[in-house]
Amino acid sequence: MPSTSNLLALAAAVSTASAAFQGFNYGASYGDGTVKVQSNFEDEFNNAASLVGTDGAFTSARLYTMVQGGSTNDPISAIPAAIKTKTSLLLGLWASAGRTSFDNEIAALKNTIDQYCGEIDDLVAGISVGSEDLYRISETGIAADSDPGCSPATLVDYIAETRAAIKGTCLSAIPVGHVDTWNAYSNDSNSAVIEACDWLGMDTYPYYQDTENNPVSEGASLFQAAFDKVTAVAGSREIWITETGWPVSGDTYNKAVASTKNARTYWEDVGCPMFGVTNVWWYTLQDAAPTTPNPSFGVVGSTLSKTPLYDLSCDGVDKTKISTGSGSSGSSSGSSSSSSDSDSAATPSTPATPASTPTGAQYSASYGGYSNSTATGIHSAYTTLAAASTPTSGSSSGSGSDSGSDSGSSASTAAGSSSTDAAGSSSGAQLNSFGAAAVALILAVAVL
Ligand SMILES: *[C@@H]1O[C@H](CO)[C@@H](O)[C@H](O)[C@H]1NC(C)=O
Ligand SMILES: *[C@@H]1O[C@H](CO)[C@@H](O)[C@H](O)[C@H]1NC(C)=O
Repeated sequence: MPSTSNLLALAAAVSTASAAFQGFNYGASYGDGTVKVQSNFEDEFNNAASLVGTDGAFTSARLYTMVQGGSTNDPISAIPAAIKTKTSLLLGLWASAGRTSFDNEIAALKNTIDQYCGEIDDLVAGISVGSEDLYRISETGIAADSDPGCSPATLVDYIAETRAAIKGTCLSAIPVGHVDTWNAYSNDSNSAVIEACDWLGMDTYPYYQDTENNPVSEGASLFQAAFDKVTAVAGSREIWITETGWPVSGDTYNKAVASTKNARTYWEDVGCPMFGVTNVWWYTLQDAAPTTPNPSFGVVGSTLSKTPLYDLSCDGVDKTKISTGSGSSGSSSGSSSSSSDSDSAATPSTPATPASTPTGAQYSASYGGYSNSTATGIHSAYTTLAAASTPTSGSSSGSGSDSGSDSGSSASTAAGSSSTDAAGSSSGAQLNSFGAAAVALILAVAVL
């Protein structure tokens, strides 16, 4: 547990930097699959923090995996890079590649705790268990041929295991959550996952909502509608914006045109109102190395540069187009700038870092979390996202067949997975939390 003085120091540091976590998403590898090493992450983090027009505010990094590429469960090198550059982290455990892979994510989280406690304590904003895993087993995700996902019951298991792994460590106070598309949360069949989370990470791309009127001029209203839908099911949980953005180049989706001009408009309408107020990890700093994907969301091109492809300043911008309420900069995120409340500032989210051993396709997936083919296709699975804007609740989900790949890897959740109603999922969650408590006790003893 961090000491009071550490907490005060953190509160001061946080309040100096910004009122909320603000940064970008960072994949574990480049578009061609080349694994990033520590110096690559340092270059990216330093570049993000020095982007012209941003006043050095982009100092947080969301990761998709705890595992360094090429290793079984070594901590991802983004962690020492973040320590060196004073970059805060939203750690992520990849949850869509089955039990063995997730075990390695947990092992890497524990290895991170062993190696870096004392250095990362004040840097961790939160821990995300999974990324769009529920989207991938949704009707739209299956229709888009996305990767195997993860069932709600398995995710609840994984979340409990993650809590057990950080119990009694320097990351014990870090809030644990999940990242998914907005329509995954509004699907009643996934309610047990929400109940298991401290916060909800929302990914939203109006650009891909091609069954709606989605010119960039409607970007803010579509984003707001998604945020409101998640708010309706979030209870008291904060909603963190884990991915959103507009591409600078690429195909047109219905009325959505990719261009630097439109990327600027979306940044201005959607990003500026939230920066400093709500935790935001924008998509993305760079996705065009070594080659430019279609579409491309990077605010810089193939070469890192302090000069972005479009204006990133928020000076004089109308910040009324998005309202995220008071929740997202709340105390639970630790992102609070209220230096007088050392507790809330200190308790923010400094979760642990899980480890995974991505291989091949999973590696590509860990770049952005969408495609099983290449990192350049990371958002292809979103193409039909809008079709699910009004998810049917408690659907019989014959589509659950897709989750079979995941549930099969975790026998304990098989029963929960087959249950299509929220109640069934909830009971599974309770059973899982009992198991987690037992594991936590064992871990606590081990730590002592
Ligand atoms: C709702 O969620 C369940 C479980 O994740 C999934 O099987 C189902 O396909 C989802 N419904 C829709 C309409 O996508
Ligand atoms: C991606 O997934 C689809 C659907 O499961 C599959 O047909 C395709 O072969 C996969 N691509 C790669 C490169 O693994």
